[in-house]
Amino acid sequence: MNEPRRVEHQLTDKGYVPVYTTAVVEQPWSSYSRTDHEVWATLFARQQELLKGRASEEFLRQQAAMGMTADRIPKFDDLNRVLRKATGWELIGVEGLLPELTFFEHLANRRFPVTWWIRRPEQLDYLSEPDLFHDLFGHVPLLMHPVFADYMAAYGRGGVKAHGIGQDALVNLTRLYWYTVEFGLIREAGGLRIYGAGILSSKGESIYCLESEAPNRIGFDLERIMRTRYRIDTYQKTYFVIDSYEQLMSATAPDFTPIYARLAGQDSFPAGSVQPGDTVIHRGTGEGWLDDGDV
Ligand code: PHE
Ligand code: CO
Repeated sequence: MNEPRRVEHQLTDKGYVPVYTTAVVEQPWSSYSRTDHEVWATLFARQQELLKGRASEEFLRQQAAMGMTADRIPKFDDLNRVLRKATGWELIGVEGLLPELTFFEHLANRRFPVTWWIRRPEQLDYLSEPDLFHDLFGHVPLLMHPVFADYMAAYGRGGVKAHGIGQDALVNLTRLYWYTVEFGLIREAGGLRIYGAGILSSKGESIYCLESEAPNRIGFDLERIMRTRYRIDTYQKTYFVIDSYEQLMSATAPDFTPIYARLAGQDSFPAGSVQPGDTVIHRGTGEGWLDDGDV
């Protein structure tokens, strides 16, 4: 078999261009360099320490149960034995970003795509696309949790459906993914904890999302989230807070088709706005926010 490629964005005269690939690849575990394993070890140890008392207890518990450790990059095959038994999910290796429909179809079939390659040492704090550390450390532990595992598969089925409905529906659904799976907070242990993978794999945002006065923290509301633009190149201006994974599951269970139809005629909200009807847990000061760039 050919060695898998490392598919990254390209910088052209039109600026940053994401590159998509559909290949499913075998994890080339023996080709990871010492530097690759060291990058994993450094990030793993750093986040583990930081996330005590910050990450959802479910995330920490499931991560330990999976047997991921700092000493070396985990083998997908080893994790899969545990994961399949727990919730029927399995990890598949990919080379980079997937086209939307391909991604949804994998999720709907309980296959979670994990980028096989890891960031370079000079990218420890930030890179502009998912890598092995983000995907594996951030996303995979909660796939061990029965309710969250069902949510992710339901999301995949919902994605296939939204793709058939049209671009506006996809935009609405993508915002839900962003504000839950990637940047979600949960009420736990009398405070707020992190469950979003985009936060869990970022040192800076793990602190910022909980401790900074700048961002809004607002109670989960499905349609509100579906109308809210977001940031891809800065910390979020707003975080949405669920009460439990069961709430996430039940709030997203109804058929979204009529919701998409209703939202089609409505304006979107700026990422940092507070709206009438919001359950405001913390109203952000907006300090340090850039004015443009919501998507
Ligand atoms: N209920 C959603 C639909 O009908 C599917 C879905 C479930 C979407 C969970 C996201 C998360 O489209
Ligand atoms: Co992600």
